[in-house]
Amino acid sequence: MLCTKKILSATVALLAIDTSVSFGCPPPERLSRLLKATESGEAPIILMPCCYDGITARLVAQSGFNATFMTGFGVSGANGYPDTQLVSFNEMVLAASKVAEGLSSAALENVKFGEPDYTGQPPVAIPCIADGDTGYGNAINVKRTVFGYARTGMAGMMIEDQVAPKRCGHVAGKAVIPFDEAVQRVKAACDARDEYEALFGKGTGPLILARTDSLVTDGFEDAIQRCIAFREAGCDMTFLEAPQTIEQMKEYCQRVTGPKLANMLEYGNTPILPPSELQQMGYTIAAYPLTLLSASIKTMQESLQLIKEGKPTLDKILPFAETKDVVGFTKYAKEEDRYKC
Ligand SMILES: *[C@@H]1O[C@H](CO)[C@@H](O)[C@H](O)[C@H]1NC(C)=O
Repeated sequence: MLCTKKILSATVALLAIDTSVSFGCPPPERLSRLLKATESGEAPIILMPCCYDGITARLVAQSGFNATFMTGFGVSGANGYPDTQLVSFNEMVLAASKVAEGLSSAALENVKFGEPDYTGQPPVAIPCIADGDTGYGNAINVKRTVFGYARTGMAGMMIEDQVAPKRCGHVAGKAVIPFDEAVQRVKAACDARDEYEALFGKGTGPLILARTDSLVTDGFEDAIQRCIAFREAGCDMTFLEAPQTIEQMKEYCQRVTGPKLANMLEYGNTPILPPSELQQMGYTIAAYPLTLLSASIKTMQESLQLIKEGKPTLDKILPFAETKDVVGFTKYAKEEDRYKC
């Protein structure tokens, strides 16, 4: 027998949503709007704390950030590996779908969408740029990587010019592919973006963030020339990895067009500057690649030490009720009730 009463109450809750307002847009379109708002000076620099799984994605979204980035270092680290491309294409796509799920569940929860006390605000799943590393093979693999991430709901993809297997941009032993090959790799990513958009409509093709690691191998001028060539190949954003001085950062911003990402890796090779200063230089995005991973590792190590010493861990941890809320138990209970017969 149908439980009319419950269906009725669920319907009433959904009717409270004003369907005349057109909510939402494809993730790449949302990212594109954010970039434009910052580039035009209407919005502050985009703060992009990086995530690597469902919970970190939810935390970034719950904290009110406008965008995030799925870090390969983080995905590797969370799986127990260093960021040296031991994690395969499929594992990265799986991580991206968990991130995407986390972002959409948090977006709906943030505004209590579909609930009786819905705030009336449109739910906004914040856009995520996924780390495409070297593209996991040749130019054709690069294109498949763009499609794989796009299908999970990623707003953009980063592609870089390191030799595979790549490594974190701030560690020793990096090697890059030749200039022309790097440009072709970026071109392949841009073509895949356009092909995806041709298939699925305007605003659906993941934006391409082209990164160069050539500063340390071929020098600053080569890195600048690569960024300029990546722009000519059609990328939407550039990322000159690991500049060592404020002067280099300024010169990069002056000489390369389009949105630019600053990588604020604590204890890395690039000066850590306040967001306002980065924006003044001409940066569009300030990424915080490892803060969440390093912060959680630190607290986990400290907690483990306390357990080892037979001491209480309460100072280190979140109360159980809050942990349950962060991972979605509160929302789950409400939804379960909504569909109960
Ligand atoms: C999100 O974007 C809005 C609108 O531009 C801005 O006012 C706000 O500061 C941004 N939030 C964060 C955390 O950067």
